[in-house]
Amino acid sequence: MPEMLNIASTTDREVRYDALLPQAAALVAEGPDMVGAMANLAAAIHDTFAFLWVGFYRVVGNELHLGPFQGPIACTRIAYGKGVCGSAWKEGRTLVVPDVDAFPGHIACSSEARSEIVVPVRDRSGNLVAVLDVDSTEKGGLDERDARGLERVAQLLDRWA
Ligand code: SME
Repeated sequence: MPEMLNIASTTDREVRYDALLPQAAALVAEGPDMVGAMANLAAAIHDTFAFLWVGFYRVVGNELHLGPFQGPIACTRIAYGKGVCGSAWKEGRTLVVPDVDAFPGHIACSSEARSEIVVPVRDRSGNLVAVLDVDSTEKGGLDERDARGLERVAQLLDRWA
């Protein structure tokens, strides 16, 4: 296993996702299970893009429970349909929120967060088992390019789900 990521020093976000993906796949293959793979993915995404917060919430019963993450401390439980995370779970799709203040019911874990993306994590049968949540300090700091890139990363986890 390599000691560090090798990501080109380009500002082109799509190029950086392309560079991250095979390295993320190698990290996920190391496991040793879903939680270990999530932990390394959170670190890899956080290091690559310097986002404020990158982490996972796992579906446990009718709640999302905080999982591996990088960034400031965060809320530990989110109810189905609540906040951006609970809404992405309920709607079963990626939510891109360019301005968190414009999202009714946004849960502010950190007052520094200005934009957010939440991506479903599914098992091989297509069941939603977790969400990948990313926060940026910039309004409009996350967009469709991130949504597509993060979906590719999240899909890697199906081998452990
Ligand atoms: N903002 C999220 C809560 C989780 S934190 O961003 C880490 C939401 O509205 O669901």
